[in-house]
Amino acid sequence: MATPSVCECKTQQVAEDPESLTNPDSPKLFESADLGPVTLRNRFIKAATFEGVSRNGHVTDELIEFHREMASGGVGMTTVAYMAVLPEGRTHRDCLVAYTSSVPELRRLTDAVHSEGALVSAQVGHAGPVANASSNGGKALAPSRWFNPLGFRFAKIADSTDIAEVIAAYVRTAQLCRESGFDAIEVHVGHNYLFSSFLSPQLNRRQDSYGGSIENRARITLDTLRAVRAAVGNDLAITAKLNMVDGYRGGLKIEDSIQVAKWMQDEQLVDAIELTAGSSLMNPMFYFKGDPPVKQFIKTLPWYLRPGFALVGKKFLKAYPYNEAYFYEMAKQFRSALDLPLILMGGVSNLDTAQQALVDGFEFVAMGRALLYDPFIIESYRQGSATESGCIHCNLCMTTIYSGTHCPISDPWPGDQVPQKYHASMSNRRDKSRNLLH
Ligand SMILES: Cc1cc2nc3c(=O)[nH]c(=O)nc-3n(C[C@H](O)[C@H](O)[C@H](O)COP(=O)(O)O)c2cc1C
Repeated sequence: MATPSVCECKTQQVAEDPESLTNPDSPKLFESADLGPVTLRNRFIKAATFEGVSRNGHVTDELIEFHREMASGGVGMTTVAYMAVLPEGRTHRDCLVAYTSSVPELRRLTDAVHSEGALVSAQVGHAGPVANASSNGGKALAPSRWFNPLGFRFAKIADSTDIAEVIAAYVRTAQLCRESGFDAIEVHVGHNYLFSSFLSPQLNRRQDSYGGSIENRARITLDTLRAVRAAVGNDLAITAKLNMVDGYRGGLKIEDSIQVAKWMQDEQLVDAIELTAGSSLMNPMFYFKGDPPVKQFIKTLPWYLRPGFALVGKKFLKAYPYNEAYFYEMAKQFRSALDLPLILMGGVSNLDTAQQALVDGFEFVAMGRALLYDPFIIESYRQGSATESGCIHCNLCMTTIYSGTHCPISDPWPGDQVPQKYHASMSNRRDKSRNLLH
């Protein structure tokens, strides 16, 4: 068996405050909480991690099982990763698309999650300059002239017709999600996908009403949110996954992002904001931190991406040190500037971190890799049988996104100690891990 690279977990960044953690008035992780019009059974959200098991834009049984498993493991809400509002907004041709005809298949997914007692959100977006134009067969869009690396060509500069089409597509997608039984939608305003690329002064060099000042750079996002809210009202919760900073020179600055968040709050366009940072286009490791799995990526990427990645992979996947809750200090600046519910994300693995986040005023925590490692960790936290995730942030899960996203090293229960309820899931996960590591 190959040995996974293990990154060192540096000192915990979250200041533990034992007194507040045991204070009976502190908010409780396992009590239900409102997110706009819906109520989660607890404060844990599964963050969007592209599942790699949808096919040609459609739901599969594996996708349903992925989220049913997360729900059975105890999260309050699971997030279906990345449903493109238009086919050309996909990050890969297999990525879900909001087709009107997809309601029955999406309904099977939402029913499966609900049957396990959790809620389900759809992350909706347009990948913009991060779209995979080669795989999608459609043009990637960008605010200004920018090379689309996955398409090996320049992206199309979005004109007013494109912008109107994108806004209309978001509205259609929100309505579709409502019809399909989703409890929430998460609008992607991060990682330099289309809306986030408009927010970036580096990527957005426009001279028209969509470029220049932060009012202009935020226009496409806010106009879309207004149209979406007008269309679906409070029938489902609306959240935004917002970049706090882009993490490279000339990118979005924190004060501009806080301003955008304030506008979202003041017009009640969203029910909560999930805070992220970094760019899938410029510096993806900024939002993961830890070891970049460059060698493993080359092995698992689609063949046409391998030569390019072999050349630039090390530079593109720059390493950043990993700390528990590595966005905590940045996110606290949003917490003190805003009143609306905020979702802390980024290296949240341990029970104490989640509790401290609530004490510090965050309403929810979202977890990605810790739940890929162990989808049942929330239930273990609830039962008191665990206080830490076994995720070592080796980021090998990133390399599985084209073949069925999973943690290739996880096995939360040794040998045959798997509880009966999780037998089928665990044997499936062990098979997948064996295939990747051998
Ligand atoms: C395998 C994998 C796939 C991901 N796919 C997405 C995605 O489709 N959309 C998105 O916004 N973020 C995606 N992310 C980022 C996560 O949502 C999250 O921002 C990041 O992993 C940091 O949170 P964590 O430390 O809890 O994992 C992905 C992360 C991983 C590990």
